[in-house]
Amino acid sequence: MTIKKLITVPDEVLRKKSQPIEKITNDEKKLVNDMFETMYHHKGIGLASIQVGIPKRIIVLDVSQKEEKKTPLCFINPIVRKMSSEKSVYEEGCLSIPDTFIKIERPKTCLIEYIDIKGKKKVMECDNLLSTCIQHEINHLDGKLIIDYLSKLKKDLIIKKLSKAKKNPDRIVV
Ligand code: NI
Repeated sequence: MTIKKLITVPDEVLRKKSQPIEKITNDEKKLVNDMFETMYHHKGIGLASIQVGIPKRIIVLDVSQKEEKKTPLCFINPIVRKMSSEKSVYEEGCLSIPDTFIKIERPKTCLIEYIDIKGKKKVMECDNLLSTCIQHEINHLDGKLIIDYLSKLKKDLIIKKLSKAKKNPDRIVV
């Protein structure tokens, strides 16, 4: 397994629309393993394959709390079939947008249809944190980011700040 390099804002790759998987081959299986490795390494709870530069409709998630044992989930070609009108609010961060947290209201529950890593069609009822996370990741597959939920002014400020930070050389303490 390999820890992949994360793509971060303002890289335009993040705006690409990811394509559905036609067939799950060893390439996809390896990619999914690498995505889990990358997500756990960066202490994230979700990752879409576009965040490692590959525009495929693959998502990995693990919303288990630290003291519990790991609960890795993989969604291929996920589709939202139902959403509740009831909402929940979380302060969301994103591995592709360092040091940025945004309060976002999303449907409290949703029904997701997807294909698992064995190629089996499945449905999952997701609620609360899991509902928010899967919707956040599906947004990635369509090139949408959490900063898109902000006003243009606030969004531009964040992009400017992150673009500037990227140009600076790595800070070191020796
Ligand atoms: Ni994200």
